Order: sequence, then structure tokens, then C-alpha cells
Amino acid sequence: MPDNLDEDKMPQGIMSVKNKVILLTGVLVVAITAVLFFLEYSGQPAKPREKSIDTLTTNEVTKKADVVYWIAPAISTITDAKQKQQVQYGKELIVHTAKYLGPHGAVLKISNGLNCQNCHLQAGTAIFANNYGSVASLYPKFRARSGAVENIYKRVNDCFERSLNGKAIDTAGKEMQAIAAYINFIGTNVKKGEKAAGSGFKELGYLNRAADPAKGLTVYTAKCKSCHQANGEGVYTADKIEFIYPALWGKNSFNDGAGLYRLSNIAKYVKYNMPQGTTYQNPQLSDEEAWDVAAFITTQKRPHISVSEDWPDKSKKPVDNPFGPYADNFPAKQHKLGPFKPIVEELEKKEDTAKNKTASAMTKKN
Ligand code: HEC
Ligand code: HEC
Repeated sequence: MPDNLDEDKMPQGIMSVKNKVILLTGVLVVAITAVLFFLEYSGQPAKPREKSIDTLTTNEVTKKADVVYWIAPAISTITDAKQKQQVQYGKELIVHTAKYLGPHGAVLKISNGLNCQNCHLQAGTAIFANNYGSVASLYPKFRARSGAVENIYKRVNDCFERSLNGKAIDTAGKEMQAIAAYINFIGTNVKKGEKAAGSGFKELGYLNRAADPAKGLTVYTAKCKSCHQANGEGVYTADKIEFIYPALWGKNSFNDGAGLYRLSNIAKYVKYNMPQGTTYQNPQLSDEEAWDVAAFITTQKRPHISVSEDWPDKSKKPVDNPFGPYADNFPAKQHKLGPFKPIVEELEKKEDTAKNKTASAMTKKN
């Protein structure tokens, strides 16, 4: 009977609707979980995971090869025409600084002929090549070197005065505004307060001995001289406006107050970026070669700048700061070339003692 059949079908029909609802709910839950998972792990290239990587052994690093390093956003994605033009000019100033602001600069003649990009590779976007990934997210910030909170303008002018051995530029001027706009734009995909994975330099272990300038000369002659020349003077373009190979020492190079003058900074830069074409993925030099060639370069003549106001809190001075006074009794020479491990160990001991003192003071109070 048709009626009966219908009646028989009824419960089945209800069941199948129920099943569909259950199935649909299940699918939805799985889909939402997948979307959340995707957002958490793949949508944020700026997650600061490089810190843990730095402390891992080589084996563990290979296992963790899936680290998502920061990728700078493309200028072509900017929709506002005025902003796009400003950001583009900022990039141009970083790539060809000398053309605009060098000894033959078209805008001002206030720096030594280096380009920002000579030390901040690929316009400050290359991984472990001193990139600008964490600038927008972390500035303004307190810097122990000046003992003050610094904004991006102050930090950029620091590099003009030291790395480019020149003069600070007007912070309200077109050039500084464009440089800051560029640096801020490429940092837009990094969360405020977070560090972009792969920004700054990659860690390099200390040697058990002092770095050796004589051994460094051998490395320099074999692997650097062909481009940077016998006297570190570099090679200019035909019009002499810009470097093809930048000066590493001498009157046209960075001065002794620059970040790259600190042995650990130049050793890390060189280890993971030189000779030209090297990246953190295919270093060409052994750790010893990197430290020794850095020692050779930083013991050659270069411009001097007075930085006596630096590091108002001496206990915050990096162990490889070559200029005294220090909060410890190690000689200046050891602070310049190492060995650094004994200095680090004494620093750690001091910190432990300080911690214990606070702890025992607290116990006494109780
Ligand atoms: C001779 C190499 C050199 C040149 C050229 C140079 N810099 Fe730097 N710059 C450095 C080093 C090294 C550091 C990091 C110093 C440190 O942390 O001690 C740095 C740091 C910075 C920072 C801060 C980065 C951060 O994550 O905190 C900014 C911004 C910056 N430079 C901008 C510039 C600009 C703009 C120019 C060009 C006008 C320039 N630099 C040219 C070597 C250089
Ligand atoms: C094939 C040419 C070449 C070789 C070889 C080479 N470099 Fe460089 N080096 C460059 C170029 C080009 C730059 C600037 C990078 C840029 O603008 O993209 C540079 C930049 C540098 C800088 C930062 C800028 C400055 O003026 O201080 C240092 C330091 C440096 N090189 C050291 C070395 C050392 C040490 C070696 C040898 C281990 C070496 N280079 C080998 C081409 C070379």
C-alpha cells in the first residue's frame, strides 16, 4: 500500500535528515579547525621562531627546516598612489644612497659613498643580512647604546653618522620621511612588539681563542681582495658616484663608532653573506675564517668618531665593545679581539651573584 510505504519511509526519511545534520556538523568542525590551524601556522610568516632555532644544534636546525622566515610585502600592493611613490623613493634612497646623499649626491653631500644596501642587503629584506623586518614592530625602543628611547629617525641617523661616516639628515625632510615610510611599509606584516624571524644577524659561536688579524689577512687575500681590493678601498662605478664593491676600511668606509665595527657583528655579517652571493643557507667561510677576517678588517685604519657618551650604563656594554671604560677588568684588547668566553662567563657569574643577593635579602625580610 502506498500509504504504508510512505509510513515505512517516514522514519527512514527522518533518520537520513538526522544523519545529514550530523555529517554536516562534522564536516563544519573539521573545516573550521583546518582554517584555524592554517591561520595559526601559515598566515604569519613574521612569527618569531628564529630565537629557538638559534639555540638549536645543527641537526635540530635541519629538522626544523620548515621555519617560516619573514618576507617583505611587495610595493606593488600599495593602492594609495602618493604612499606608493614615497615608499618607492625610500627604497631608491636605500639602494642608491650615494647617488642622492653621497660625496657627489644630487640632493645633499653628507655621507661617504656607501649605500645602506651595502650592509642591509636587498634593500633591507634579505634573511640574516641585517634586514629591517623588526624595525616597524619594535621601534620606538630603548637602546642601551644611547641609554634612551629611540625612534626610527634617530636609528636611521645613527647609521648616517657612523656607518656612512656622515651627517644626520633633517627628520622632517623628504628623504628621511621616505626612508621611514619604506622601512615602516616593509614591516607592516610583523605584529607590533614581535621580532620578524630572520631579521638582524644569525648567531655565530665564539672562538676559544682571540681572533687573529694575521690569519685574517690570509683569508682576505684568498677570498675578499678580488672585489674589495688590496687596501680595502673597493671599486667605484665609472662615474665614481657609487661603489660596485664597497670600501671595507680607509677614509671612505664606516667609522669606528659603527655597528659593523664590533667584531661579532662584522663576523656574523661576513659568515652568512660574503663572498657576494653567500646566504645563511650556504656559508662559505668556517667560523674561524669569519672571526679572523673580521679581526683583520677592524684592525685597519678607518675614520674615527667620538662616542664617549655611548653606553651610559657600562654594565650593559656588549663584551666586544672595543672602547673602555668597562664594568670589568678585562683589557681593551680582549674586548676587541677576544677570547670573549671568559668575559661572558664573568658577566654571568656577576648576574648570578646579584640574583642570589636579591634572593637572600628577600629571605631575610621574610
Ligand atoms: C657599514 C654598514 C652599514 C651601512 C652602510 C648602514 N647600516 Fe644600518 N646598521 C648596520 C648595522 C651593523 C646595524 C645593527 C647594529 C647593531 O645592532 O649593533 C644597523 C642597524 C640599522 C637599523 C636598525 C635595525 C634594527 O633592527 O634595529 C636601521 C633602521 C638602519 N640600520 C638603517 C640604515 C639606513 C637607513 C642606512 C643608510 C642611510 C644604513 N642603515 C646604512 C650597518 C650599516
Ligand atoms: C664577488 C665580489 C665580492 C667578494 C669576493 C667579497 N665581497 Fe664583500 N661585498 C661585495 C659587495 C657587492 C658588497 C655590497 C653588497 C650589496 O650592496 O648588495 C659587499 C659588502 C661587504 C661588506 C659590508 C659593506 C662594507 O663596506 O663594509 C663587508 C664587511 C664585506 N663585504 C666583507 C667581505 C669579506 C670579508 C669578504 C671575503 C670573505 C668579501 N666581502 C668578499 C662583494 C664582494
